[in-house]
Formats: sequence, structure tokens, C-alpha cells
Amino acid sequence: MTGLEMLALEMLHSSSMHSTLTHLECSRCKKSFPSGQLVNLCACGGPLLARYDLSRAAKTLSLEALRDRPPTMWRYEELLPAAGEPVTLGEGMTPLVHAQRLGARMGLGRLYVKDEGLNPTGSFKARGLSAAVTRAKELNAKKLATPTAGNAGGALAAYAARAGLAAIVVMPADTPEANEIECRAAGAEVVKLDGLISDCGRYVAERGPREGWYEVTTLKEPYRIEGKKTMGFEAWEQLGGKLPDVILYPTGGGVGMIGMWKAFAELEALGLCGAKRPRMVTVQASGCAPVVRAFDQGAAASEPWENASTIASGLRVPKALGDFLVLAAVRESGGTAVAVTDAEIVAEARALAAEEGIFAAPEGAAGIAAVRKLAERGWIARDEVVVAYNTGSGYKYLPSWRQALGM
Ligand SMILES: Cc1ncc(COP(=O)(O)O)c(C=O)c1O
Repeated sequence: MTGLEMLALEMLHSSSMHSTLTHLECSRCKKSFPSGQLVNLCACGGPLLARYDLSRAAKTLSLEALRDRPPTMWRYEELLPAAGEPVTLGEGMTPLVHAQRLGARMGLGRLYVKDEGLNPTGSFKARGLSAAVTRAKELNAKKLATPTAGNAGGALAAYAARAGLAAIVVMPADTPEANEIECRAAGAEVVKLDGLISDCGRYVAERGPREGWYEVTTLKEPYRIEGKKTMGFEAWEQLGGKLPDVILYPTGGGVGMIGMWKAFAELEALGLCGAKRPRMVTVQASGCAPVVRAFDQGAAASEPWENASTIASGLRVPKALGDFLVLAAVRESGGTAVAVTDAEIVAEARALAAEEGIFAAPEGAAGIAAVRKLAERGWIARDEVVVAYNTGSGYKYLPSWRQALGM
């Protein structure tokens, strides 16, 4: 290839692969915001959602075009917010594992586990923080702060380090040790509080403006959801351009659920899927199940859960900012909401490891426990395509695993 041909190819590549981000829109009052400045929530309290020029994106994004793109979530570049080179560690394109043996024992022929534990930093939080740190860097933030149940903090610390930015992570004192260690290793400042993630959230919100931190708290920052939505794009792509019949998602803040719901609407707008959606299932732990309770009561939003407690630390969110969006997605999709006990989580974590070789986080195992319940009830049929997200790696929860194995 001549130098001129190579230059032409590079130009073609850069002109055909770029973000079509246009603006941000409030998820409550629909007010528009420019995308070129650092923002958090709308004045009405609503989280902001990224909007794209979908007709422009449709010109270049297709199943065919994706074949030659790098195996990271940034392959969906048209529908992601990076203006230039993203801050990446290779997140995304995690395996969609056909759980044949586990599925067969539940009477399901097409159960798949999307193994998010294989992401950089060992959880799906890598996706959201790659997107958020990319934008924060582009918009000149200097110090990024987040409350965390653990994994988001680890991911923020890593991506901030990669971007050369400072990070402060605020976590409950009983967060898994691996999360604290990974944050400190990446050079983040770590604050541990006696309390829950909601207390950590208050701490960041109070000090952030005073200290000049940019808050990348779930849903208070518009781009984490953009990273997480790629879990939905990938399921579609890995199933050959088809959406599954059922998706199970372990829900704390619910951002993955909101993100995937948004992803499917974008795919439809691009003509890449039809109007039929997967039935979306929110899975929570019975020791902290505010969204399940709201779903059962027919409420539009949840009430704070008292004395939240579960081994699935990522699900210990007493009240999520985006609960109303999660509930809307679950209902619109014809889905449901299921709570599972810690004992059920432990049993399914062991089954997933022993029968499929997947060493899961308790949050991921919660999804499998819900699959079992819904299959037993006949809510999921034998031949339906079911995708359960294992949102994190078991390696981050070794003390819980030690206990589960009676060691
Ligand atoms: C492993 C794991 N799974 C699930 C969740 C819940 O994620 P979301 O806030 O998107 O509901 C978390 C959040 O901390 C997590 O760390």
C-alpha cells in the first residue's frame, strides 16, 4: 500500500468512526443542555442523558461494519461520547457464555452468562468509568470524586490514573478489601465512612463543590450510563444482531438497566433491531430490595430501604436516584423484579463456578438465583434466550468465597 493510500484509509477510518453526540437532555423535564461543559444534574433534579445524531450514526454503524473494529466497547463509537481518543484499558466485548449444564438443570436450553468479571478492574464498572473519565478529561476536570459500594471506586481510580487525573473515592468501612486496595494502588485518595453508600454520597455532594471535585457519582454524571449501555449493544451483537428474550440485571443504582434500555431504543432508531424488547428483570437482595418492593406495590419510585444488608455489596443501595427509570423500563418491557436471599446467592455462586467454571461476584450469582426462580414459576420458557449479567469477578470477594466454601 502506498503512503497516500494509507493516509486515505486513515482519513476514511477517522471520518467514518466518530461520536455523533449532540447534546444532553433531562430525563425528567426534557430540558436540553450543551454537551461541551461539565455538568451534573438538571435543576429539576433529573439525571441527564446523552443524545446523538442517530441518522448520522445509522450511516456507519451496522453489524457488518462492527466486524473490523477493535474488541472493546469503543467499537460503538458513533453512540459513545468521546470527542477524541478515549481513556481505555480495553473494557467491553466480554464473553457471552452459553451456560449449558446450569441451564439444563433449570430446564432452560438457552441460558447465557455475560461475564463482566473479565473487564479491566474486574467488573462492569469499567465501562461506565472509561466513558466518564474520557469526558471529564476532555472537559478539563482535574479531580474526580465518587461514592462507591466498591467496584466503581476501583474503576474510577484506575481510569483516573490512566488519564493522569486525581481521584477521591468514598466507601463504606465494610466494603470488600480488594476494592480499597485497588483504589490505593492506583493512587486514589480513599475515605472510609461508617455507613452506607447513601452516606458516602452525601459526603461527596457536600464537599465536592467546596473542594473543586467533579462528581462522577452514578447518574449525577451523564456518561457512566453511556459506557454501561454497551452491555446491551454487545448482547445484541454477540447474538448475531438479535436481542435476547429475557435480561436479568442485578440492580443497585440500576444504571446498567437504564443504560441497556437506552441502548435498545438507539438500536431501533438506527434500524438495527425491531420494536420488541427483552423482558427486563431487576434482581435485588432480599436484605435490600427497594426497587422490587416498589415494583410489587405498583409505585413509580422506591422508598429508602431501612437497615440494608447483604453479602452482595454492590446491591446495598437503599434508594437509587434513577429508580423511576429502572421501574419504567421493567414495566414497559413486560419484565419483573425479583428478590433473592443471601443463602440463594451463595448456592448459585457455587453452582456457577462448579458447573460452568465462572467465578462470579455475589451480585452476578443473584441474577442466576433469579433465573432459577423464574424458570420454576414458568415465567421463563425452555427455549427462550436468557442473558444474565455476572457483573463482577469472584476474585474481588475472596473473604465471602472463603465463607461460602466453609474454609
Ligand atoms: C458487582 C456489582 N454488580 C452490580 C452492581 C449494581 O450496579 P448498578 O448500580 O448499575 O445497579 C454493582 C454496584 O456497585 C456492583 O459492584
